[in-house]
Amino acid sequence: MQYTEKLIEHFKNPHNQGDIKDADAVGEVGNMKCGDIMKVYLKINNDKIDDIKFETLGCAAAIATSSVLTDLAKGKSLDDALKISKQDIVDVLGGIPAPKFHCSILAEEALKKAIENYKK
Ligand code: FES
Repeated sequence: MQYTEKLIEHFKNPHNQGDIKDADAVGEVGNMKCGDIMKVYLKINNDKIDDIKFETLGCAAAIATSSVLTDLAKGKSLDDALKISKQDIVDVLGGIPAPKFHCSILAEEALKKAIENYKK
């Protein structure tokens, strides 16, 4: 399987890329398989994600999944955001080549880490 058009579109024009200077929470994770890194920044208001941005040092699939993750998480309550799974992200992209599936884990984990850090 090749990258879907949707994946390439998100890779070329990622949504919500960058950092948030006065973020309420940050989550950073590294991928054990390839060494790539992703950081998620959150602005939280009344337990709701008002704004989310990401920085990813990684492959096209990692960037595309990060972009989709921010779209899915924006405006959600923290509890609902915790329910976003890598499968939800992959579904939006219309699939991901099997050897690249590990890349989608980064996005899900970085968001969970950021929310965890916020709750602490
Ligand atoms: Fe590292 Fe995709 S190859 S995240």
